[in-house]
Amino acid sequence: MSVIIAPSMLSSDFSRLGEELRAIEAAGADWIHLDVMDGHFVPNITFGPPVIKAMRKHTKLPFDVHLMIAPADPYIPAFADAGADLITVHVEAGPHVHRSLQVIRGLGKKSGVVLNPGTEISGLEYMLDEIDMVLLMTVNPGFGGQAFIGSVVEKVKKVKALIGDRPIHIEIDGGVSVDNAGLLTRAGADVLVAGTSVFKGGTQADYERNIKALRASL
Ligand code: DX5
Ligand code: ZN
Repeated sequence: MSVIIAPSMLSSDFSRLGEELRAIEAAGADWIHLDVMDGHFVPNITFGPPVIKAMRKHTKLPFDVHLMIAPADPYIPAFADAGADLITVHVEAGPHVHRSLQVIRGLGKKSGVVLNPGTEISGLEYMLDEIDMVLLMTVNPGFGGQAFIGSVVEKVKKVKALIGDRPIHIEIDGGVSVDNAGLLTRAGADVLVAGTSVFKGGTQADYERNIKALRASL
């Protein structure tokens, strides 16, 4: 199984987004993870469609857009237009997550559902036909640099069993590092988001070393 590394731009230098995108692509990233926060669903605010549209010009890598906004549905078309390839929505963000997933697929984008660390997987079996990815949070969303919540590893195994042979990715987000990446991929994860651990150091050479170390730890 080849593991996809998706650096989170939340840990990049926002004053140099174009340069940072070029550096992280050259350093070996597979996808770009973009954390959209609204100051309502999560206690932090980041960026929206215009910034993503501006970023789109600087890399060819897929944009994995993690929506931490409520409501999400009214804004999904704008994120699709801005250049998202994959859009993920939280089950906790509204009563109609199945509809949100249909809206994303209807716009020709890949869809994913996100579960917070304390959210059970019970409804997931009814969404399997609508999703390309399940994102399991290993921190409570809102900030980079938080401590990894280890109890989610058991949830990864359960989700992997539920998915079976279906072509659905399992992505992990929050506190991912060389200390837990192997544990996560052995449990069934195949997409690793990493902010702090990939962007530490601040130069392209650092990013390359950090990504290589993450891959070597698997
Ligand atoms: C948290 C975000 C994450 C975050 C990960 O709400 O969804 O993508 O940037 O950052 P680290 O890897 O620093 O935990
Ligand atoms: Zn994220």
